[in-house]
Amino acid sequence: MLEIKKVYKTYGEKIALNQVSMKLDNGVYGLLGPNGAGKSTLMNIITDNLIMDGGEILYNNENIKKLGKEFLKEIGFAPQQQGLYDEFTGRRFLSYMGTLKGIHKKELKLEIERVSEAVNLAKELDKKMGAYSGGMKQRILIAQAIMGKPKILIMDEPTAGLDPKERVRIRELLGDMSKDKTILIATHVVSDIQSISKEIIMIKQGNIVEKGTPDELVESYAKGGNLEDVYMKLFGGGE
Ligand SMILES: Nc1ncnc2c1ncn2[C@@H]1O[C@H](COP(=O)(O)OP(=O)(O)OP(=O)(O)O)[C@@H](O)[C@H]1O
Ligand SMILES: [Mg+2]
Repeated sequence: MLEIKKVYKTYGEKIALNQVSMKLDNGVYGLLGPNGAGKSTLMNIITDNLIMDGGEILYNNENIKKLGKEFLKEIGFAPQQQGLYDEFTGRRFLSYMGTLKGIHKKELKLEIERVSEAVNLAKELDKKMGAYSGGMKQRILIAQAIMGKPKILIMDEPTAGLDPKERVRIRELLGDMSKDKTILIATHVVSDIQSISKEIIMIKQGNIVEKGTPDELVESYAKGGNLEDVYMKLFGGGE
């Protein structure tokens, strides 16, 4: 159980997260909100890539700061940005990430095979990532996140730029893995999470404005419609 308690973060004058709290158990949690809502900020804080100004995060009732590396070992993260390792081949990148995660040399080859097949990139591993298409870069980021079978997956817009077929593959992959994992997904492709999410968290300008199961939200905001309609109801009316 991952418990986010009153997390507060500012960039200068800007409040990016205003006392955000949520509890994440096993299952898929969808984080929806307009550009600038604070989704990436929250994900970067959970994964220790950014320091919060206030609040705390507990993993199984222990502060993640205290757990340190022990917590980070349990996490897989697919960040929003890509293109950081253009000179690496896909295989070298996965091997590098796997080593950072402490995967043993003996297991590394099989693990690279497993994750690259899961994202349909097994045949592309010997190309430089600079030569990958946008969707391929996106998928190798997903592959590294699931290496080592972490208990928590933090996915920042994992399906951005993917063609419909690959989107379905990733949606099914994440859905399948969610039985024994906590998966937090930020996305603008609302339909990608409607069917697999246990809970949807709606965030705007650093505040959680609503949460619930997809069915509950549709029932309250867009009876007879879908989650996209709920999104438009909550966020579609401009500022
Ligand atoms: N390094 C930074 N310096 C200053 N302001 C920042 C920085 N990073 C983010 N912000 C601001 O914090 C707010 C939240 O940004 P964040 O990237 O978390 O949003 P987001 O929900 O991920 O948006 P998107 O859907 O566009 O990815 C925005 O107002 C953004 O301009
Ligand atoms: Mg973002």
